Amino acid sequence: MAQKSNMGAASGLGRVLARSGVVVAGYLVYVGAVAGLPLDERANEDAWSPQARAGMGVWREQACTGCHSIYGLGGHTGPDLTNAWSRMGEEYIRTVLREGVRAMPAFELSESEVQSLLALLAETDGTGVYPPPSNFAPVFGVGR
Ligand code: HEC
Repeated sequence: MAQKSNMGAASGLGRVLARSGVVVAGYLVYVGAVAGLPLDERANEDAWSPQARAGMGVWREQACTGCHSIYGLGGHTGPDLTNAWSRMGEEYIRTVLREGVRAMPAFELSESEVQSLLALLAETDGTGVYPPPSNFAPVFGVGR
């Protein structure tokens, strides 16, 4: 009898684990469907203009990514810059790069490096929105 009920408990546990596995798999498919594919497409640097790609080179060399994110990926000391282009405009971005502001250091960049960074920021602004809209997949039932 005792043995039988233990087995019952074990298979009950198995069912719970199997069911939560299905829930987790379903959640991942859901997140992928809602959020994943466009991001992968946007993260594909081959889709960018050569100048924006050069801008990504400067972005990495100068370690902008240590303090800033694009599409939410990167550092968080400074603001996400996905939409900095439409939020701040070219002149403000140029000034921030040249002069710095508060915790943002000044950079000595060539005009062509600045233009490449501007091309990068213009293209990220044209292809993504961050933070994502409020229909983004809820995390464990907590929406935004
Ligand atoms: C040491 C960390 C750090 C590094 C490295 C850094 N930034 Fe910043 N950046 C900041 C912080 C912090 C701010 C916010 C400044 C403020 O207004 O208080 C900022 C602001 C900005 C802004 C204005 C955006 C806004 O919404 O206010 C732009 C554009 C920018 N940074 C671009 C860059 C680029 C491009 C690079 C690389 C060349 C870079 N930053 C490197 C920390 C950094």
